[in-house]
Amino acid sequence: MELQWVDGADGLAEAAAEHVVAVLARFARPVIALPTGATPRGLYERLVRRGRTGALSLGSARFFNLDEFVGLAPSDPRCYAAFLTRHFLGPLDIPAERIRLLRGDAGDLPAECLAYDGALEAAGGIDLAILGLGTNGHIAFNEPGGDWKLGTHVVTLAPSTRRAQRLLFASEAEVPRQGLTMGIATIRAARAVLLLVMGEGKAAALGALRAGLPDPAWPVTALLDHPRLTALVDRRLLPAARLP
Ligand code: GLP
Repeated sequence: MELQWVDGADGLAEAAAEHVVAVLARFARPVIALPTGATPRGLYERLVRRGRTGALSLGSARFFNLDEFVGLAPSDPRCYAAFLTRHFLGPLDIPAERIRLLRGDAGDLPAECLAYDGALEAAGGIDLAILGLGTNGHIAFNEPGGDWKLGTHVVTLAPSTRRAQRLLFASEAEVPRQGLTMGIATIRAARAVLLLVMGEGKAAALGALRAGLPDPAWPVTALLDHPRLTALVDRRLLPAARLP
């Protein structure tokens, strides 16, 4: 793992944009897995700016999302597909044929997961997986104690995850209880992984990662032996994230 400390949200966004541009330059038709949340917002702003000025060409890139809430249609502004359309895919006018997002409103969720894995395989797998980090150490919606061998699957969201997502919804009761997520196996198979770590409450998960031991209680540690893992971490987490 290459760990790089960055300064705040701006430092993270700038370093992440530089990294994404450099990785994408290596692939002719890159396949990119996209995260949602507060953490990647600055990255998306910068990529959109670069795309609009012609400094970045995403003309042949293909996009998948990491995860989605079960039960929400893509037209629902609270879902992850809507977030990505609003902040990244829409402003860059990425055509629909180069986008495949998980359908949390699918009638047959296992079939949707299989179809998603099929689409990923047909695309040749992921070249760059961009990840945020949950306070409980999850990546995408792979919660603590989950099976690291799985591909895309349905998950029951941990109470801490539902609490962290509470602000997207009018009440706690409305936060979905299930999600769809790319599995750890799929993420680990990505040719490059960029992990973005920022925000309150991430110190414990970061500490587990820095401890350097794969631990099912901290799903992010499944990435430790990835040959091309870069972690960009907000320096403000440093005092709290000392090695145990
Ligand atoms: C959710 C998403 C994750 C994301 C995490 C962190 O749980 N499912 O994919 O990494 O939130 O969100 P934030 O960046 O807002 O801290």
